[in-house]
Amino acid sequence: MASFQTILIIGATSGIGEELARQYHSLGKQVIISGRRTTRLDTLAAQLLGVGVIQIDVQDLDALPRKIDEAFTMFPEIDAVIVNAGIQILLDYTADNNNNNGYPTTANITKEITTNLTGPTVLARCIIEHFRASRPSQASLLAFVTSGLGLVPATMLPIYCATKSALHYFTVILRNQLKDTPISVVEILPPYVKTELDVAHADEMAKRLGGQKPQGMPVKEYVESVIKGLAVTQADGKIQKYVAEGLPRVAVEAWVQALGPIAQMLHMDL
Ligand SMILES: NC(=O)c1ccc[n+]([C@@H]2O[C@H](COP(=O)([O-])OP(=O)(O)OC[C@H]3O[C@@H](n4cnc5c(N)ncnc54)[C@H](OP(=O)(O)O)[C@@H]3O)[C@@H](O)[C@H]2O)c1
Repeated sequence: MASFQTILIIGATSGIGEELARQYHSLGKQVIISGRRTTRLDTLAAQLLGVGVIQIDVQDLDALPRKIDEAFTMFPEIDAVIVNAGIQILLDYTADNNNNNGYPTTANITKEITTNLTGPTVLARCIIEHFRASRPSQASLLAFVTSGLGLVPATMLPIYCATKSALHYFTVILRNQLKDTPISVVEILPPYVKTELDVAHADEMAKRLGGQKPQGMPVKEYVESVIKGLAVTQADGKIQKYVAEGLPRVAVEAWVQALGPIAQMLHMDL
């Protein structure tokens, strides 16, 4: 069982990140929350005694090194970071650019790629540098929240699925690059969970899927399973590579089984 004590959650103002903050806090962990919405950060800080707060906009790439420096200066004992921030935009490459119907504007494409992919990859560099300096031989955790849709895509979410798929591959490569360090690089692949992620387009998605609105998993229940998953270690003492259940678990296991032997030829461990 791995046990981390000081956890920075990037994207903790709602949904999965907020619930991770609440549950880790109730387990007695030092939690540091972040996100863009200051009112949400203030409200959570008032509810969770002793929680650390740092406002971070993952899209502000130039500010990320300074923000991570700030977090580690305030809490040098950070031993786990969960990069959870993400957005989802319904985009349709057949739409006309004349109304609000999912036309893929450059602004929306850029926003989604920066939040879901570029930001996390820059954050990874900053966090790894801190871990290697502050915990050269002690265990630490760097976890990324991808999605089952990174492996099995959905037609309405072209950029979202592309970013999550890319983040999935990035996580695999990072884990291989860091194999001789004490840093566990973990991918969390949520199934469909009831959060604010799709409030703007859940009805439209349901309509396009034939009228049926899928039932999302309750966030509390889902996060309980993530916390259990992040405590599972492998034979080498690191945290298990993939924290997934349900359909994402089926997808990731099938992917590892099908491509693992080929990846071995490139000295890559899936
Ligand atoms: N819910 C699902 O069904 C599902 C399934 C698979 C994967 N996921 C992934 O799970 C993660 C959490 O999503 P959720 O479902 O919990 O949705 P959510 O309730 O919308 O939460 C998203 C979180 O990301 C933060 N965030 C978004 N843009 C940000 C930015 N530029 N800078 C910093 N923080 C930012 C938000 O904070 P601010 O708005 O305050 O910045 C919020 O805390 C995402 O990566 C999502 O893709 C969710």
